[in-house]
Amino acid sequence: MAATLTKPAAEAPDPRPVKVDVDVSHRYGTLPVHDGLKFTVRENEFLCLCGPSGCGKTTLLDILAGLLEPTGGRVLVHGEPVNPKRHNISFVFQEPSTLPWLSVRDNVAVGLRIKKRSADDVRSTVDDILGVVNLRGYENYYPHQISGGMKQRVAIARAFATDADVILMDEPFVSLDQPTRERMQAEVLSIWARKKGTVIFVTHNLEEAVFLGDRAIILSAKPARILADVRILLPRPRNTLSPEFTRLRAQFANLLNAAVPAGTGG
Ligand SMILES: Nc1ncnc2c1ncn2[C@@H]1O[C@H](COP(=O)(O)OP(=O)(O)OP(=O)(O)O)[C@@H](O)[C@H]1O
Ligand SMILES: [Mg+2]
Repeated sequence: MAATLTKPAAEAPDPRPVKVDVDVSHRYGTLPVHDGLKFTVRENEFLCLCGPSGCGKTTLLDILAGLLEPTGGRVLVHGEPVNPKRHNISFVFQEPSTLPWLSVRDNVAVGLRIKKRSADDVRSTVDDILGVVNLRGYENYYPHQISGGMKQRVAIARAFATDADVILMDEPFVSLDQPTRERMQAEVLSIWARKKGTVIFVTHNLEEAVFLGDRAIILSAKPARILADVRILLPRPRNTLSPEFTRLRAQFANLLNAAVPAGTGG
């Protein structure tokens, strides 16, 4: 039975159209970081990227966002070279990046206003999203008046508000305590189910990857190669204590352990 719950992506074709097509190699000076990383991401897919520290995950997100030109290869979004001016790419960072001079409501609304959406549309979209991330009642608070977890909720709400082409998340929950982290994971799935979106989510935490992802890619130490690219077919909501869940997490952990030579930290 377990065999039907995960599959190598190559053996389980996903019928959704391709949204992002990646084929990159990158080096910083003489330091090779990525060595022919090649994968596609489907429309509305939730892809988790895992890999040892220093293997180039943040660099890859910068390349996917069009903020960094790879030294080899390219990223296509909707078949065109990624361009932050033409494509709407949302980025959620490790540390919440709220705008301190704007209220919670205005922080979430900022992208919608840039897109010149009508005032009614902005209001109803923001109200809806603030409900999903449990920030109703805090609309008029400013970032310094709310906790770190709440600020990260604001950043996530903003990322999903504008129907981005791609939503990139770089270990967004790493600085949160475990109960908050678990709540946020559930909220991210709930906002993703509501708003849809193509998500590429970087995490060190394998439990998080198995809990969240439609699919997980495990990267080697640098120069990063793909060690595994697996569709996760476990039904949601996922039970982190189920045998299938634990088995998959252990399988990923073995791959990562084999990828990082003992005594090295990346
Ligand atoms: N701007 C830069 N110039 C030169 N080297 C860089 C630069 N940015 C990152 N590096 C190097 O590239 C490698 C990959 O860094 P990156 O931050 O992408 O890794 P990461 O997988 O995100 O690590 P972590 O899991 O610790 O966040 C590291 O060896 C890092 O020192
Ligand atoms: Mg990083």
